Amino acid sequence: MSSPTPNVYVISGASRGIGFAITSILAQRDNVLIFAGARDLKSTQLNELALKSGGKVVPVKLESTSVEDAAALAKVVEEKAGKVDYVLAVAGISQSTDPIAQVPLDDVRRHFEVNTIGPLVLFQSLLALLTKSSAPHFIVVSTIAGSIASMPQFLFPVSSYAISKTAVNSAVVRIAVEHPDLDAFVCHPGVVSSDMIKEYVAKTGTALSDFESMGMITPEESAASLVKLFDGAKKETHSGKFFNVDGTFLPW
Ligand SMILES: NC(=O)c1ccc[n+]([C@@H]2O[C@H](COP(=O)([O-])OP(=O)(O)OC[C@H]3O[C@@H](n4cnc5c(N)ncnc54)[C@H](OP(=O)(O)O)[C@@H]3O)[C@@H](O)[C@H]2O)c1
Repeated sequence: MSSPTPNVYVISGASRGIGFAITSILAQRDNVLIFAGARDLKSTQLNELALKSGGKVVPVKLESTSVEDAAALAKVVEEKAGKVDYVLAVAGISQSTDPIAQVPLDDVRRHFEVNTIGPLVLFQSLLALLTKSSAPHFIVVSTIAGSIASMPQFLFPVSSYAISKTAVNSAVVRIAVEHPDLDAFVCHPGVVSSDMIKEYVAKTGTALSDFESMGMITPEESAASLVKLFDGAKKETHSGKFFNVDGTFLPW
């Protein structure tokens, strides 16, 4: 008897943090094929995971700002799988620590390039392969910091990050509106003890306890909840929406 067609995933930012943790969880499943995007293919932990996975994890070079990388990725996916079921845009940066009055404009542009245009490039490159899936999903890991409604409660001076994530939220809703056959949504992964938070703490002197008091979780805990969210996602119930890591709705 032939084995069923695998579930095919493309994940950006799979080298470390939440993206690596999601890739690790999915790699434990039978019948999956995971194209794990990393801008530096020398990432040791991703290569080790690929080796252990027996061919289920395929590391692919993917710099978020590169249209060429995304086109080359689409070609590899086409050749090896002929479709994609889940595109998970996880790669992102949060490097701004300036209040909006002083934020360097190049800092804003860089955050837009990676956090907003990066997922859009991925969508445009993989749309044809998504349409080959019987249940296609395009999911962006955004942040509550990009929620306009929640911004008054989020006082860290991360202006470039926040506005670039608000913009990607908007892009994903446009995708949902213009592609009703697709399940397209954004999610917040929780406050996660990845390098992103550690670097912010080191750069700004913010106490780690400020994040701990917000219910900080590990990348592995975040990924476990996100994978549950992705597994249960359907276009009828999820498309065009903003989800918290626990599967509840977040306001725009
Ligand atoms: N940590 C949190 O509390 C938190 C909260 C809300 C939302 N998020 C979101 O969750 C996602 C993952 O963040 P994380 O916490 O796992 O952060 P992280 O540990 O800093 O990992 C960031 C990932 O993005 C990749 N990346 C960064 N710039 C890239 C670029 N130009 N091209 C390709 N890949 C790039 C990194 O690759 P390299 O290894 O090559 O640098 C790495 O794999 C981000 O979108 C972030 O905004 C995180």
